[in-house]
Amino acid sequence: MILVTGANGKTGRAMVSALAKAGADVRAFIRDPNQADGLQALGAAETAVGDLGDVASLQRAMAGASQVLHIGPPMDPNEVIYADNVINAATAASVEQFVYYSVMHPQRRVIRHHRLKLEAEEHVIESGLPYTIVEPIRYMQHLVPIWRRVVDEGVHAMPFDIDRKFNVVDLADLAAATTQVLLDPAHLYATYELAGPEALSQRDMAKIISEVIGQPVRAEAVSLAALKKKGRAAGLSADRIEQMAIMNGHYDSHGFLGSSVTLRGLLGRAPTTFATYVRRLQAEQSA
Ligand SMILES: NC(=O)c1ccc[n+]([C@@H]2O[C@H](COP(=O)([O-])OP(=O)(O)OC[C@H]3O[C@@H](n4cnc5c(N)ncnc54)[C@H](OP(=O)(O)O)[C@@H]3O)[C@@H](O)[C@H]2O)c1
Repeated sequence: MILVTGANGKTGRAMVSALAKAGADVRAFIRDPNQADGLQALGAAETAVGDLGDVASLQRAMAGASQVLHIGPPMDPNEVIYADNVINAATAASVEQFVYYSVMHPQRRVIRHHRLKLEAEEHVIESGLPYTIVEPIRYMQHLVPIWRRVVDEGVHAMPFDIDRKFNVVDLADLAAATTQVLLDPAHLYATYELAGPEALSQRDMAKIISEVIGQPVRAEAVSLAALKKKGRAAGLSADRIEQMAIMNGHYDSHGFLGSSVTLRGLLGRAPTTFATYVRRLQAEQSA
């Protein structure tokens, strides 16, 4: 039985689905019992209700689990506390593998959640548990929330200089690769940077999208002030808005580049290109 935390999130749902399709027994750790049906529809064999801050709920959820995939909530100030709680519950349950879902370049300590993930990685390594760490780069799926504007107005707007490059990766590839990590003990004690196959700027992405949808699309850099205003309008916490601004400012200055060699090895095929991802998204959105 594989316990998956953060199961109802964007990443968690992709992981539960990929693991279930590969035949694994998954127990989805969720906060709200109303989320159970959705997770079971994705293939979870069981659900466990609790909170990453509630140690007893984690201990209950861990009963009979042989592996854990821990996916913490994004940009959360409690990243290390939550990771420690899951590590401790996993240690008490003597699980055979602890997979920690981190981020690529946790060494970029200026970004708080990268720094906290670096600290959590240290705790995972020192826990004595057999572990694997996956370090994904920025997802291609950041296109989803802006897709309507891209299609309706022909504007691909992100908070970066339009020529800054990113090796964006398909979340479906990350789910397939992380499934491999959980199915084969050869991956114990590895730390894997997982990046997409192309270094693309917003300008490059706009051009690819334009070719796929057959309409002109231009790239536009959103200012951090505009990003903060949008965050406030969406009701995000002041802390979350500040962390988003720090992260995006850092990516804007330094880009986010990585190699796809490890991902290719785990998948046993070429990782998904941005054009292929956009074609899939277009089909999903028009279905
Ligand atoms: N997006 C990227 O490009 C990217 C790249 C690399 C790494 N990552 C990492 O991927 C991870 C997942 O991100 P995501 O975008 O999938 O997140 P997400 O969609 O916001 O999902 C987070 C999940 O965590 C749950 N959660 C939040 N607080 C909790 C708590 N106290 N106890 C139990 N569950 C709690 C949420 O529950 P509810 O459903 O009840 O709200 C939600 O299901 C993050 O650690 C992020 O840093 C993301």
